[in-house]
Amino acid sequence: MPDHDIQIQDGRLSASIDLAVRYLRDDLLIGLPTETVYGLAALASRPKAISKIFQVKARPTNHPLILHLASYRQLEKWAQNVPSYVEVLCEKFWPGALTIVLQRTPQVCDEITGARKTVAIRVPNHQVALALLNRIDDGLVAPSANRFGKVSPTSAKHVVDDLGDQVALVLDGGVCDIGVESTILDCTRSSPQILRHGAISKDELESAANISINLSDGESRASGMLEKHYAPNCRLELVETTADAKRRAAELVSEDQKIEILDFFGDLIVYANQLYARLRQADKSGVDVIIAVMPINTGLGEAIRDRLTKASAASSS
Ligand code: TXA
Ligand code: MG
Repeated sequence: MPDHDIQIQDGRLSASIDLAVRYLRDDLLIGLPTETVYGLAALASRPKAISKIFQVKARPTNHPLILHLASYRQLEKWAQNVPSYVEVLCEKFWPGALTIVLQRTPQVCDEITGARKTVAIRVPNHQVALALLNRIDDGLVAPSANRFGKVSPTSAKHVVDDLGDQVALVLDGGVCDIGVESTILDCTRSSPQILRHGAISKDELESAANISINLSDGESRASGMLEKHYAPNCRLELVETTADAKRRAAELVSEDQKIEILDFFGDLIVYANQLYARLRQADKSGVDVIIAVMPINTGLGEAIRDRLTKASAASSS
C-alpha cells in the first residue's frame, strides 16, 4: 500500500476525516486509531462492509464485533434494558477503554453480533476516532486491525504492514496511548462479568458503581477468551523474574538461539504501551525466542499477563 494512503493528522485532520467518511459510505474499510489499539472499521449500518471485516481478518463470523459510538447519548438507539449501574460506569469511564455488553435493539444488525441478542459497545477516547464518529450519524464497528489470532496493531504502520491495500485508508492517530484492548464487561446477566481484562480494572469498576463483578465462567464468548490469541510468529516463553529471564537467556544463547527479553521492571504503563510493538519487532528481526518477564497480577498487569499467556499458548502447542 502506498504511503500516501496513511492520512496524517498534521493540520489536515478534517480533509482526512472527509475522505474516511466517503470511503465508509462506499462500503470500504478504514484503519481507525483508538487509545487502546487500532481498529478495522466499517459503518455499523452496512452489512456488506461488515462482512468484509470478517473476510479481511480471516475471523470466524461467530466472533462478534465491538460497536463504537460518539457518546453515551447514542446508547438507547443501540441497546435496551440498560441496568442503572451501567449509566454510572459510562459516565465515569466513557470515553475510555471500557466495552459494555448489553441487550441489543433492532437497530443492530446480525452481522455485528453473529446473531446474538447482545451487543458490545464502547466510546473510544481518541480525538481522531471521536472526530470521525461525530461526523457519521451512525456507529463504527471495529475489531482490532490484525489478522485473527495475531498481534494487535498499535500504530498506523502496523495496520498497513498487516492488511495492506485491504484497507482503503488508515487514519494516523499516532501510537496508541494504552496499547492493550479494552476491558469487556458483560452486563446482560444477573451479576456483571468481566470477559476480557484491560486498562480499567475490576476494582475500579466495582468501586465506581458499587457493584460486585464476577470473572468469566470460562465459557469462550469473547475471542480474547480463547486460549491462543495475540500471538507472534516466534516462540514466546514466560518467566516471573528478571533473574529467571537472564538464566533462560544464557541457556538459549548457548544453543545459538537469537533471543529478546521483554522486561519493564514493574512499569505497567510502559509495558502495555510497548508490548505489541515489541512482539512485532522481534518477528521482523528474526528472533527465535522472546522471553517475557510477567508483571504483577493487578490492574493493568492482569491485562498484560492475560495477553502474554494467550500469546505464549501458541508456542507450547
Ligand atoms: O480496545 C478494543 O476493544 C479494540 C478497539 C479497536 O476498540 N477492539 C477490539 O476488538 O479489541 P476485537 O474484535 O479484537 O475484540 C472484541 C471482543 C471479542 O473478543 C468479541 O468476542 C467480544 O469483544 N464481543 C463482541 N461482542 C460481544 C458480545 N455481544 N458478547 C460477548 N463478547 C462480545
Ligand atoms: Mg482482536
